[in-house]
Amino acid sequence: MMNQYVIKGGNPLVGEVDISGAKNAALPILAAAIMPDETVVIENLPDVTDIQAILMAIESVGAQVTRLDRHTVKINGSHISDYRIDGDYIRKIRASYYLLGALLGKIHKAEVVYPGGCNIGLRPIDQHIKGFQGLGAEVELPHGRVYAYADKLTGGHIYMDVVSVGATMNVILASVMAEGTTIIENAAKEPHIVDLANFLNSCGASIRGAGTDVIRIKGVQRLHGTEYTIIPDQIEAGTYMFGAAVTKGDVVVKNVIPKHLESISAKLIEMGCEVEEGDDWVRVVASKPLKRTNVKTLPYPGFPTDMQPQMTTLLALSQGTSIVTETIFETRFKYVAELRRMGANITIEGNAAFITGVEGFTGADVSAPDLRAGAALVMAGLSAEGFTYVDQIHYIERGYERFEKKIRGLGGRIEKIDSDDDREIRKFQMKVS
Ligand code: EPU
Repeated sequence: MMNQYVIKGGNPLVGEVDISGAKNAALPILAAAIMPDETVVIENLPDVTDIQAILMAIESVGAQVTRLDRHTVKINGSHISDYRIDGDYIRKIRASYYLLGALLGKIHKAEVVYPGGCNIGLRPIDQHIKGFQGLGAEVELPHGRVYAYADKLTGGHIYMDVVSVGATMNVILASVMAEGTTIIENAAKEPHIVDLANFLNSCGASIRGAGTDVIRIKGVQRLHGTEYTIIPDQIEAGTYMFGAAVTKGDVVVKNVIPKHLESISAKLIEMGCEVEEGDDWVRVVASKPLKRTNVKTLPYPGFPTDMQPQMTTLLALSQGTSIVTETIFETRFKYVAELRRMGANITIEGNAAFITGVEGFTGADVSAPDLRAGAALVMAGLSAEGFTYVDQIHYIERGYERFEKKIRGLGGRIEKIDSDDDREIRKFQMKVS
């Protein structure tokens, strides 16, 4: 069965939406959860398919995984019995590489299929490998896999050539129980790096400086159990904030950390939206015509690459000409061809999109090329005239919990329907017309 989203545009998104836990924090934390020999309880997990995949992976090496409810899981890693992770479910996700760091750190041996993930660029893992080697590990790349092993891991001084979220987290994982102190220079500073460090510190690790570009990890002999709550998802929140702007709506994103959303709020304000902040909520109201601006994606605290497709979509409906420059992933503009089918006026030159605003989008058949672009196309559909059909939505389900339900809660007209079920499609069309 292939599901698609069928969307009838034109309703502004209005109301409140609860933001789930951060996928990109939960993935490394679930890998890290196998490192203590005691039980850990993790709360506020997003219920999305990437999380299901990593849970299956840690179970496959012998971790005991008990679901307490949809967002809470209990993990015990005292009987890790294997160091190899394989299987189709894991090939699809990027975060499989965190199992390298976690297994290497705990049992000094790991073999994982070469990481997959959204096809948004080359996505090499040379910095991960350099990091492991810097701790004394050997790394081999047998056919389609990564194999890392060490007799002993020793703290090292690791300078990252590029700012990498994944490599920074992986070096933290591999060094947390190494002998001596590890220093990571030019580390990534994303909120999820801080979340991983906080989780590990709550298990007895000694990690300082997470959230800055120098992180110091003093190896400890063992980690103990803990209970930990994942931070809210910055990108999910940002997506609904942009959804408010794209549909000229009024949305309160709840259970967020407004500080993590600053680069997103700042751009929305620049474009003429009203943004109001509380302790754990942000409200976006879009009542005036939107103004042009330029944006460049950068590592945190810069504007996130994971918000780039949403940003480009919004600028396509703003007055004047805007430029969006993508500096993190080379091929993250594939969705532009889809947006053009909806009437957007965008040309791509190298790593920049030149966007001339149009009055509005019209509904079309489009395909989600990856997770974030898929979400952006849904938002475009919600603002478009007529019906939009988005397929390949399994990408979107990797990272957005109950996406269509949350959108309906805000008054958006969207239904998830089997692409071949013409009757259901017609039923929805009749209902919303
Ligand atoms: N890079 C290297 N060598 C490496 C690692 C990275 O050259 O060894 C380069 C990449 O090619 C890229 C840049 O460094 O140009 C940054 O990549 P990074 O390692 O930070 O990204 P990632 O770990 O592959 C994570 C998220 C992405 C998010 C990026 C940037 C996960 C599982 N993935 O990817 O999330 O876009 O950080 O913030 O956490 C998504 O959620 O939709 C998604 C794609």
